[in-house]
Amino acid sequence: MKTISFPRKIQKHLSKLKRAGKTVGLVPTMGALHGGHLSLIRRARRENDVVVVSVFVNPSQFGQGEDFRRYPRPFARDKKLCEKEKVDVIFNPPPQTMYPKGYLTYISVDRMSDVLCGKHRPGHFKGVATVVAKLFNIVQPDRAYFGLKDFQQARIIGRMTADLNVPVDVVTCPTVREKDGLAMSSRNVYLGKSQRKNSVLISEALHSAVDMVKCRKAKNADKIIEKVKKDIRRIAGARVDYVDICDPETLEKKTVAKPPFVILAAVRIGKTRLIDNVILLK
Ligand code: PAF
Repeated sequence: MKTISFPRKIQKHLSKLKRAGKTVGLVPTMGALHGGHLSLIRRARRENDVVVVSVFVNPSQFGQGEDFRRYPRPFARDKKLCEKEKVDVIFNPPPQTMYPKGYLTYISVDRMSDVLCGKHRPGHFKGVATVVAKLFNIVQPDRAYFGLKDFQQARIIGRMTADLNVPVDVVTCPTVREKDGLAMSSRNVYLGKSQRKNSVLISEALHSAVDMVKCRKAKNADKIIEKVKKDIRRIAGARVDYVDICDPETLEKKTVAKPPFVILAAVRIGKTRLIDNVILLK
């Protein structure tokens, strides 16, 4: 496995392989790899000749007062995990190579970026869309892999890729959960013992809302949302940023919870912000 830190260098390395007819799969990450990332890497490994994992804590997607500085960076551990999964290249650029002095260009995906998490983290998705577009240009993968735990992010990247005619297949993969149901996230390590134990109530509340719809016990979106918020507020110290029921393609709010829909939540437990969602297609 190679570790490459500079865009020019990885471009040169990959262009040789592409000329030889190899396909390239990219798994963009901010490191602190967990089971969710490993599922993306494994799928990329199955579907491509060459697998690239980018490890870059992207400053442009963090707002003021957010956790950019304390975001976990266990690079040696990440490297070992990638080696075990037979990753071919780790791309870990220093921030100044991605955003050199004088950097001015950003991508924003209108409307979809201002709702849900975008409302609570202004500028976040502009940072995400920009860094992903840059990674697509640097790596020029055939396919790129994203987890559906970050549902809004996956949809925004899909939109950006289609709108800008980027020749990359955006592959989305299911959320991977801990045994008790908590969605895997690099931020779960911030949780204290009792916070960690209680955080399972988020996924339980979302799944029970979907079960209510499936059993035809509820369909009014506002009522379902209120019930989910009430369930989540049983977590000591929890503050709900939002719970919403949306169209899974456009992210527009739905007033009736009729499939297809996605129910999404963002919750702050102490200083930790967790997101989760459950999708009901039919
Ligand atoms: O999901 C993440 O880890 C990040 O938002 C991504 C897609 C790697 C962009 O920095």
